[in-house]
Amino acid sequence: MSVSTPAPVSDALVFFGATGDLAYKQVFPALQAMIRRGHLNVPVIGVARRPWTTAQLQDQARKSLTEHGGVDEAAFAKLSAQMQYVSGDYADPATYDAIKKALGPATHPLHYLAVPPSLFETVAAGLAKAGESQDTRVVIEKPFGHNLASARELNSTLEQYFPESGIFRIDHYLGKEPVQNLRCFRFANALLEPIWNRNVIANVQITMAETFGVAGRGAFYEETGAIRDVVQNHLLQVIGLLAMEPPATSAPESTRDAQVAVFKAMRTLDPASVVRGQYAGYRAEDGIAPDSQVETFAALRLYIDNWRWAGVPFYIRTGKYLPVTATEVIVTLKQPPQRVFGADTDNDANYFRFRLSPDVVIAVCIKTKRPGEAMTGESGEMLARHQTEDEMSPYERLLGDAMHGDPTLFARQDGVEEAWRVVDPILDTAVPVHEYAQNSWGPAEADALIAADGGWHDPSKTGAVE
Ligand code: BG6
Repeated sequence: MSVSTPAPVSDALVFFGATGDLAYKQVFPALQAMIRRGHLNVPVIGVARRPWTTAQLQDQARKSLTEHGGVDEAAFAKLSAQMQYVSGDYADPATYDAIKKALGPATHPLHYLAVPPSLFETVAAGLAKAGESQDTRVVIEKPFGHNLASARELNSTLEQYFPESGIFRIDHYLGKEPVQNLRCFRFANALLEPIWNRNVIANVQITMAETFGVAGRGAFYEETGAIRDVVQNHLLQVIGLLAMEPPATSAPESTRDAQVAVFKAMRTLDPASVVRGQYAGYRAEDGIAPDSQVETFAALRLYIDNWRWAGVPFYIRTGKYLPVTATEVIVTLKQPPQRVFGADTDNDANYFRFRLSPDVVIAVCIKTKRPGEAMTGESGEMLARHQTEDEMSPYERLLGDAMHGDPTLFARQDGVEEAWRVVDPILDTAVPVHEYAQNSWGPAEADALIAADGGWHDPSKTGAVE
């Protein structure tokens, strides 16, 4: 038996894009939370082009925290003391010399590339040239490519500079507490495994609905659209966790192997099983082409062609400007083979419901007898609900894991490529785009897609929505 030595904890955290939006909304709050829990005791170096000083970065951090979660003065003081700012062009070797200087004695830092993907290669090359690719870890953000071909290109570019074990691809959905709960629920409960397959499960559906539009991100969204933005990554990852086999061991790669096996078995989508929509008014927004064909809504049906799931439809629906903000998975069971109580008027099947946001709920819908003379059933949910006061944000969890070299909750390149392979034929204009009214559930065609399986579940019927 071989005994593996634990990976060393990163001894500094460098984040590129320190003056940007992602740093402002996610990174500073995550850093403060890590400090508060005693999880970050190393130098923190922010890098960006703007000619700022460390004091200006500290001010930016305070502003960010005031808007996103609040300033904890004690933790903030510690964070400020650990923080330095390096200003420079990402293509200029002098920037990397300055980073090296700021790193001092640190020998295996974590480099977080909170920058647009078009800059990944420049920064990766800059780090490598400065001799920063051996004992280092890099964290990158989605999108990992724009389609299958560009994802492969990005991968081979990164591979020139870093070993796969040093690359951490953030899909923040994998860092969400309720998404992790799917894994726990499936593999910590013996009652599930015998029924979690095509013999008992009729279909699975996921709705990820948002009441807001592209929120000032028009230029980004024009390049992306709903399928690239959330289906290829977040929602396929959720299906990966719902559908995977039990991991062979507790080692991180076993979990990732099991998830990737699901992606490998996913049937490549064909345009006939996809509906695209665009909300009315999208084309008038800043940064959007007047004849844009980009989708702000997508609904699709996919299949996983393996022994466990053959023939079970998995439906996905997501969109901007829908009636509610909520993300929910419904796993519907088959009806009993015989209607013993003929007068039963309630046709609802049993289901499992996983509410991933805004609240966190796991529910099982079962039937019991409706009180009274007649033998009729009525459906009701058994609920497990949890709401924690001090939940880790995905970014806090994922940055901490990356610093410890734990890749479990990060997308692996083979999985990323398989997910692109699944959506590749439906990207861009392969499927026509239908306009839908804001505050509606998208184009009517999306309802037709799932009509044979009882229609879409409306998250506002079963829980809190925003
Ligand atoms: C991001 C997308 O990855 O996920 C956004 O770019 C989307 O368009 C967001 O709104 C949803 O994530 P969350 O955690 O806010 O539900």
